[in-house]
Amino acid sequence: MTEMKRKVKEAVDFLKPYLKDGQATGLVLGTGLGGIVEAIDRDAAVPYCDIPHHPVCTAPGHQGRMIFGRLAGRPVIALDGRFHLYEGFSPQTISFPIRVLRALGIKALLVSNAAGGLNPNFRDGDLMVISDHINFTGHNPLVGENIDEWGDRFPDMVEPYKRTLIELAEKTALKEGIRLHRGVYAGVLGPSLETAAETRFLKMAGADAVGMSTIMEVITAVHAGMDVLAISAITNVNLPDCYRPAAIEEILATAAVAGRTLSRLFEKILEALL
Ligand code: HPA
Repeated sequence: MTEMKRKVKEAVDFLKPYLKDGQATGLVLGTGLGGIVEAIDRDAAVPYCDIPHHPVCTAPGHQGRMIFGRLAGRPVIALDGRFHLYEGFSPQTISFPIRVLRALGIKALLVSNAAGGLNPNFRDGDLMVISDHINFTGHNPLVGENIDEWGDRFPDMVEPYKRTLIELAEKTALKEGIRLHRGVYAGVLGPSLETAAETRFLKMAGADAVGMSTIMEVITAVHAGMDVLAISAITNVNLPDCYRPAAIEEILATAAVAGRTLSRLFEKILEALL
């Protein structure tokens, strides 16, 4: 057995007793969006440091625990705290919690993140459902030996974000009166924010939003055969010809406000899911 498979198995063996309700949906909570956990009817919150081989968080706005419970009456497992390449975590380490969720039987993954807006139609605090992504990080979690049991060597990326889930998100947002854009997410390494020239380049490349997370997790989830829905909270709109600094405090504050709307949207989507 490869080292990675053994580690995932040991984490899964440790976590299985917490899994009560059978098939659950996975939630990945992005920067400043941990507020969603307050809406979860919680059975258990397991600190990452208690889970065998699980990485532990360093980023601001991230707690570092796996939450088992129900949201809108549906069983969920939430990753409250995530891992970024800019913290120095390897792509494989970032993919570890996703492998664990998959091995716990999770088929659908709802991902949230904080992102900079590139589309001039966006406003601070808006939400954007991700229709596709561009991986500008220079990394890929599937580099190295492929574990055939987990997925294909060359996984197809024709529909990384499940179209039916995007449509469900849009239908739900419309019904709830929530402003929801649809767009392309560019994933960058960070931690430095983009220069005006990089922002101009990303816009020209076809991106509507830019962020430092999500891509490693989504590639892993697609490889593992999961259905992914990802929604960005647009915390700051970057206009290269009118460039202003984006302070982390403001990003976190806007993420917290947008997070409340996103939490409501995720709840309503979950209600409609099953
Ligand atoms: N750039 C990259 N990542 C981000 C930003 C940004 O402007 N805002 C929030 N995450």
